[in-house]
Amino acid sequence: QSFFKPIHGASPPPTTTRTTKISVIGVGNVGMAIAQTILTQDLADEIALVDVNPDKLRGEMLDLQHAAAFLPRTTITSSTDYSNTVGSDLVIVTAGARQIPGESRLNLLQRNLALFSKIIPPLSAGSPEAILMIVSNPVDVLTYVAWKLSGLPANRVIGSGTNLDSSRFRFLIADHLDVNAQDVQAYIMGEHGDSSVALWSSISVGGVPILSFLERNQIAYEKQTLEEIHKEVIQGAYEVIGLKGYTSWAIGYSVANLARTILRDQHKVHPVTVLAKGLYGIHGGDVFLSLPTQLGRNGVLGVTNLHLSDEESQQLQKSAMTILEVQSQLGI
Ligand code: NAI
Ligand code: 2OP
Repeated sequence: QSFFKPIHGASPPPTTTRTTKISVIGVGNVGMAIAQTILTQDLADEIALVDVNPDKLRGEMLDLQHAAAFLPRTTITSSTDYSNTVGSDLVIVTAGARQIPGESRLNLLQRNLALFSKIIPPLSAGSPEAILMIVSNPVDVLTYVAWKLSGLPANRVIGSGTNLDSSRFRFLIADHLDVNAQDVQAYIMGEHGDSSVALWSSISVGGVPILSFLERNQIAYEKQTLEEIHKEVIQGAYEVIGLKGYTSWAIGYSVANLARTILRDQHKVHPVTVLAKGLYGIHGGDVFLSLPTQLGRNGVLGVTNLHLSDEESQQLQKSAMTILEVQSQLGI
């Protein structure tokens, strides 16, 4: 018995309907910030939550469901069982240990590696057509691990990478120049973390290349000032973790931004973790790190060919070596 009466001559509903399903694995600070940003931005018809902690999981699901009157209509499900994720278009992995104040991301590897070996195989088996987005840290190495364990093609395994660091970078530059961060085009590449690379040579504000603008107008700038801004990007996460214990809102927006580009097939460029082998002179193994990447419904569509200064290129090689060194100890 339906609440609504059919109109005269209405056809029965189609047997198949196309819906967009996003699964979020791990309902901690990061998973919930991502889920709620995706909800408010109306990016999915269904959000499936998974966590090992059943009470926290059900509590988070109910709390989101109770906002239904204020949000776009979205089915929210939760289960400790991975069968809940079957048929996802996008699977976002945030489960795992996080840093304590002062701890590096790379230090989380052994704990999160063990966890990934349990969670990745059922995820890719249940959603073989999905894009797999890794957020857990250390995100670059874990994206490589997820690629290996999932058996998915490299274009469908992506890490959130330096999309977040680049937002921090754009915020600091915008603040420094008193402009809108959305008008600042600037990239951080390489490792999401301590060995990241700031691309000063290609920054533009409202289409104006910034270094040549400063030089042309004989505006003095110290290389040290630029380095300070990059240091602040790297220190940003440590500072937030020291103050509130974790980071959440910025990564929530960063991943929702990536989800929109992928699911709506926007062909936008984002700095994200991808298989970098053979690109930007990176050789020596299957290293995953952030490069400016065009994304769409098929995941990675391609990587842009930015001009790097010699110094930036060297720093990127160094960042790749740092990650490769860690990867070589994994034995997978
Ligand atoms: P949290 O401790 O609040 O949440 C982690 C969640 O994972 C918990 O709910 C826990 O029950 C769950 N979990 C643990 N084992 C699991 C399993 N086997 N299956 C399913 N769920 C499981 O941590 P938070 O703050 O949410 O951080 C999560 C991860 O995200 C950390 O690794 C952190 O470093 C990373 N992170 C990454 C960022 C990035 O830019 N890539 C930004 C911020 C955090
Ligand atoms: C962040 O950069 C901790 O990776 C996390 O916010």
